[in-house]
This record gives sequence, C-alpha cells and structure tokens, in this order.
Amino acid sequence: MLEAIRTRRSSRSFQESNGLPAEIMKAIEQSIINSPSGSNAQESHFIIVQDKEQIKRIKRFSPGLSGNPTAVIILCSNPTEALNKGGKDSEEVLRFVNLGIVAAYILLSTHTLGFGNCPVRSFHKDAIKKLLELPNGMEPELLISLGYSKESPRKKNSRLKEEVISFDKYGVTQE
Ligand SMILES: Cc1cc2nc3c(=O)[nH]c(=O)nc-3n(C[C@H](O)[C@H](O)[C@H](O)COP(=O)(O)O)c2cc1C
Repeated sequence: MLEAIRTRRSSRSFQESNGLPAEIMKAIEQSIINSPSGSNAQESHFIIVQDKEQIKRIKRFSPGLSGNPTAVIILCSNPTEALNKGGKDSEEVLRFVNLGIVAAYILLSTHTLGFGNCPVRSFHKDAIKKLLELPNGMEPELLISLGYSKESPRKKNSRLKEEVISFDKYGVTQE
C-alpha cells in the first residue's frame, strides 16, 4: 500500500485498449463498496463508462480530461439523499469528503494493478448530467480517467514535510 501511495502519479495519455480487465473492474467495485462514509450514509453513486462513443462525448465536454482513456468513472452525489441519510453535515461537507475517499481508494487500487489514472474536475457539469441521464438532484463531482499509461511517471513536486506536518501542535516540527 505504501509503495502504491509513493509511486502513483496522474496519467494523461493512455494505450489503446478494449474495456476494463475483470480484475480492474473488481478493484473499482470493491473500492466503492468498502469505502467509509460519514454516518455510513453511502449516498454517492458511480457510473463506469467504457463505451468508446460515450467516452468521446464526455471528452468533448471535459477540458481537463486528457488522452484517450479505456474508461471514465463519474463520481456523483445527491445533496438531498445525503441530508436524508446523514444530516446537514453530510449535505454540506461530508458528501464531498466521502467522494474524495472513494476516489483515493480507486486511484490506489487500480494503480496497484498496473492501471494509470487521473482525477478530473474540469468538466461541464450540465453537459455531463445530460449525457449520462443523471436523475434530478444527482450531481457529478469528479471524473476519474483510467487506462494503461503511455507515460513514465513524472517527478512529483511535493512540498517539504516540515511545511505540511506538525507534531502535537501547529508549527512544531521534528528534528
Ligand atoms: C480534485 C482533483 C481535481 C483534479 N482535476 C484535474 C483536471 O481537471 N485535469 C487534470 O489533468 N488533472 C487534474 N487533477 C490531477 C492533479 O493535477 C494532480 O493530482 C496533481 O498535479 C498531482 O500530481 P499527481 O497526481 O501525479 O501526484 C486533479 C486532481 C484532484 C485531486
């Protein structure tokens, strides 16, 4: 797991491939089903798109989606369902936190199995809603593109750990 965290990088170009292998599909399903959620509300919904024409249409309305991925997962949440199942905090905040956690699970589990991926927020919400025929109230919040990467991983420009991690109280670093 730590190795997966250390080595995963966003992929923005993908090899030609027909559909998701069964083990990747299983990793995605397991990531979604087992991810934690505030109050165990499980209000999120996920659409796994593999149809090439549908991916082309999604790309047309997603400036942030690079390359030709084998699949695109649309991570959606429904504020009303979140309110009903988890209360105000779920509606306002936790539904986004929950999606972020599922996204991390999907990114790491598929990377572990050799698939490249990239989270994508830059897309036209209304167009995606229409294309996927999302029901009223269901909001697409994040896409994840997936495929065998064509690129070798770029070097990450990470902040220094002293800048982002404190010990016991804010600003205290370790020698
Ligand atoms: C919430 C979120 C939204 C993102 N949206 C986009 C996007 O629209 N297009 C894109 O190419 N990358 C997008 N990224 C990928 C980031 O640019 C990338 O994670 C960051 O540069 C760090 O690189 P790494 O993923 O290789 O570690 C997004 C990442 C996150 C977490």
